[in-house]
This record gives sequence, structure tokens and C-alpha cells, in this order.
Amino acid sequence: MTENLGVWHDELQAVLNATTGPLKEVVFLRATDSTQDAARRMRAEAGQVVITARQTSGRGRLGRSWADTMEEGIAVTFVLPREAGGRYAIAGSIAASMAAEQFLAQAVNVKWPNDVIFGGKKLAGVLVEQVDDVALIGIGMNVLQTSWPGSLAETAVSLSQAGATCDRLGVLKSLLTAADAVFQMDDACLTGEFAARDGLLGTTATFFDKGIAVTGKVMCLEPLKGLLVRNAEGDHWLDAATTSMTGR
Ligand code: BTN
Repeated sequence: MTENLGVWHDELQAVLNATTGPLKEVVFLRATDSTQDAARRMRAEAGQVVITARQTSGRGRLGRSWADTMEEGIAVTFVLPREAGGRYAIAGSIAASMAAEQFLAQAVNVKWPNDVIFGGKKLAGVLVEQVDDVALIGIGMNVLQTSWPGSLAETAVSLSQAGATCDRLGVLKSLLTAADAVFQMDDACLTGEFAARDGLLGTTATFFDKGIAVTGKVMCLEPLKGLLVRNAEGDHWLDAATTSMTGR
């Protein structure tokens, strides 16, 4: 499939021009190290959306990297006014799930705080960083990959591998539309959308908050407070910014 990158900016800007939410302006880069870093360098303002066709040094949460898979995935940073990071992580996961669902017949799950999962493998991830008065909400989604470097073969999946027929521009358009709507949702709506896709609620799971293991039953999610896990020692509110399920 040949992509015409020359039309991406104008077609994506047209999507934002038709929306009524907080997203206003597309900044398109044919290649960059990380859309998060590009947004920092250009001192991006709330309402801007930094998109690249090739990200060479993407970052994940908790010091991890986001693999460079040439021109097969999508990498986007949404710039919004600074507020609680946990809320944006949830909103980003929901937006990515909604965008993916446009191309898949089956449900897409979210795994708190920031993973979008299909068939037990990671389809997209969200990274929220706060800089001065803005939040940078980075979303990476796997779209066209059919093979993976190293151990990612066991853990990652793309829309193509999940059976979708799609191109990256179409997926980006869906993501922009979904994100503009989700970023306007109130907490009750976000909680409902998350719960409808959540694979953890009611299960017993182990989380690592700042490296300390907490095992318990997942009781509920509140966008501003985090995830409530209950065990014999009591209730534990886990913070999206510092919690993982792997301990790394
Ligand atoms: C994670 O799963 O740990 C989060 C991955 C976030 C990756 C995206 S791709 C766009 C943006 N730019 C980055 O460098 N990282 C995020």
C-alpha cells in the first residue's frame, strides 16, 4: 500500500475543523524522534496535536521505550491544559480503543492505566507527561505491522494482525475524532466508557506501585483518584502515574 504523506496534514486538519472540542491544530512531521519531545521543543500549546509518520525514539511509561517499527504504526501527542494525569491516561486509552473499534468486529479492552489490548496483546499505549502549563498525552497504536522485533512478537499486536483492513491515515482520522469527543467527557462518562472495556474489574490482580507489590481484588476506577484494589490489609488507591502490572 502506497501512502501519500503529502495529504496527511490537510486531511487531518480538516477532521479537526469539523469537531467542536479542544483539539484545534495539526502539526505534522514526516519523521521525528518522539512526538512528546517534538511537542516540548516547539513549546506546543493547548489544542495542538503533533503527529508523525515515523517515530524513531518513542518513549513509553516508567522509562520504557516504544519501538520504532518504521512507517507501520501511528504516533500522536495531544496537547491540552495541565490537569490530573490519571484522568488523561484513562481518556487516552478510551480514545484509542474507540478508534480501533471502528476497524475491528471484536471488542477492544483497556487495561488500567494505559494499555489498549486485543486478544491479550498490546494494540496501543498512552503516555502522559506534564510540562509547564500543558499536558502531553502521547498515544502510539500498532496499525500495519506483520512482524515484530525481539520479544514484542509475544506481547504486541497490530490492527492488521487483528484482521482489520485499514490504512494509517484512516486510523489517525478516527483517533482524532474519538479523542476530541473523549477529552470533553465528564468523569461519570469516562468511568462508564472505561468500565465497558475494562478487563480487570472484579478480578484479583497484582500491581506494582513505585515498585511495591499490591495484590487484591479490583473494585472500581475513579478518573481522579485511580484504581481501588481491596485485600486483607484494606483498600489501596493506585495512581496511574506510578503503577504498572509488571514491576518494571
Ligand atoms: C506505554 O505503553 O508505555 C506508552 C507508550 C506511548 C507511546 C507514544 S507514541 C506517541 C508518543 N510519543 C512518544 O515518544 N511516546 C508516545
